Amino acid sequence: MPGQGSNEHPTGQTPRLTPGLSVRAEFPIFEHTTYANSCSQGALANRVRAAAEEWLAGWDENGAEWPFWVERNEAARTAFATLVHAQPDDVAVTTSVSQGVSALVSALDLTGERKRIVVSEYEFPTVGQIAHAQELRGAEVVHVRPEDDGRIPLERFADAIDERTALVCCTAVSFRSGHRHDVSAIAELAHASGAILLADSYQAIGSMEIDVRAIGADVITGGTVKYLLGSAGLAFMWLRPELRSQLLPTQTGWFADEDIFAMSIADYSPHASARRFDSGTPPVPSLYPGVAGMDLISEVGVPAIEEHVRGLNDRLLAGLDNLGARVMTPRAANEHGALICVLSTDPDALVDALAAERIVTSTRDSNLRISLHLYNVEEDVDRIVAALAANRVLLA
Ligand SMILES: Cc1ncc(COP(=O)(O)O)c(C=O)c1O
Repeated sequence: MPGQGSNEHPTGQTPRLTPGLSVRAEFPIFEHTTYANSCSQGALANRVRAAAEEWLAGWDENGAEWPFWVERNEAARTAFATLVHAQPDDVAVTTSVSQGVSALVSALDLTGERKRIVVSEYEFPTVGQIAHAQELRGAEVVHVRPEDDGRIPLERFADAIDERTALVCCTAVSFRSGHRHDVSAIAELAHASGAILLADSYQAIGSMEIDVRAIGADVITGGTVKYLLGSAGLAFMWLRPELRSQLLPTQTGWFADEDIFAMSIADYSPHASARRFDSGTPPVPSLYPGVAGMDLISEVGVPAIEEHVRGLNDRLLAGLDNLGARVMTPRAANEHGALICVLSTDPDALVDALAAERIVTSTRDSNLRISLHLYNVEEDVDRIVAALAANRVLLA
């Protein structure tokens, strides 16, 4: 049954963690709070806290644990690669989506005919801002805007993409409204014109299957703060290997070098692997909790999490319909991810009213954002719907 999860195991073996009650005990916040804000930050798991403390303990006991830090960096690379069904060599470990995307565009020649960057209106600000920053290098930025119903039809992308396009940015799931793009179809359009397709998957990774073998994108990025249960400061960028070998980032650092410990200042010799998109000293304090969070997600399994959250969201949508609320996220399963957005007359007041009942949500634009994850259960949904009913006046 969605939302309930069980850790009983008929053979008496150590039970596998499943979404719902079985995993919830790992997250102390649920002892007093209904947490529904994973689109901003995932809740803190005991093992993630322990991993962060392990970093401090090691520092205290041993001083600089340099070899172990490098090992943790590689563990993060492998954990990201596992989540997207890729090889570690095809994954850069970055400190943020911004760092990875900046390095990516730094590798594009935007001075010739192919100087367009197409951005969907649902990109996270950092992607739009990085695109516009390239205007200083000759780029032309084209925005693809939604229709009145909030959808961005494929034809809008088709209108914007042509042989002048170097890069198309289409986020997998909008942080603003919960809309999900058909990344594969947009990637086909991009490829037909010889353009690169970047899918910022921050609002998807850990809550939805992202499979680089099927998604069609050339570059995928995301980070650990939200559905991967880690802290700020750790992100990744997967690049299709054939593409990567043609790209030379001019935004770089010594951890992107073919031999980090050569310590040479004489040349630029980027690593053959996706490591060429790494930068400086790895984000050590974020590696420990990040790897622990990703391991927890992988242990439960993204397909199981996706199914669990879909069940909870069906219940949530039914509850919202009963209230006559205006849901801004499309209903079809292939048109949204974990995030559900509801129109409010005063979203900040609504977030505050829910917080007063110890329900944590967030806002963007005029929307209340409710984002459920592996640790939520049906009772959480029922509490949220009941609290919204009590504050019906704040729903549009
Ligand atoms: C879709 C999306 N992209 C990117 C980010 C963050 O980017 P960065 O890692 O550069 O801070 C967020 C949230 O913070 C996000 O929701």
